Amino acid sequence: MALLLISVMSLAILASVSYAGNVNNGKTQSLSSLRGVFDNYGCSGCHTYMYKNSTSGPAIAAIAALAKFKTKKWVISWIMDPKNHYKETDIKALIRAYNEYMPNNGVNKADAGKIYQYLMRIASKSGKKKK
Ligand code: HEC
Repeated sequence: MALLLISVMSLAILASVSYAGNVNNGKTQSLSSLRGVFDNYGCSGCHTYMYKNSTSGPAIAAIAALAKFKTKKWVISWIMDPKNHYKETDIKALIRAYNEYMPNNGVNKADAGKIYQYLMRIASKSGKKKK
């Protein structure tokens, strides 16, 4: 009986922990739903999932790494309207390298925030040491 009670209690604790993990004030979303936002705007058309830069843009791991060194405000502004940043030195170098200007993809602020989250999650993943 005691054993049964303990296992029921630990199940309840487990359930509440995973529930909290999923909801987390409504801010944390699953990686796949964040990836969905990135894909819906056509970002992956130029930023591929392979560890390879395409001719139309740097690979997703590369842009995630670049974004990691910028402020959140900068990245959101870039995602919503890149042309405001075309004159910045590092962006100019990228434009020269890819011979391409990232276009305005009509991303709204809420979705830009989700894409920012997505890029930071990717950046922290690829930041792990390979064995
Ligand atoms: C037509 C191709 C194209 C599309 C579509 C595109 N990008 Fe880009 N992106 C680029 C190129 C090219 C660069 C490098 C800078 C430049 O040349 O404008 C870049 C750079 C970036 C960077 C790095 C900026 C930095 O920190 O230096 C981020 C982040 C980024 N893109 C995110 C996105 C997101 C998010 C979307 C979808 C909303 C998207 N891109 C759609 C071509 C594209």
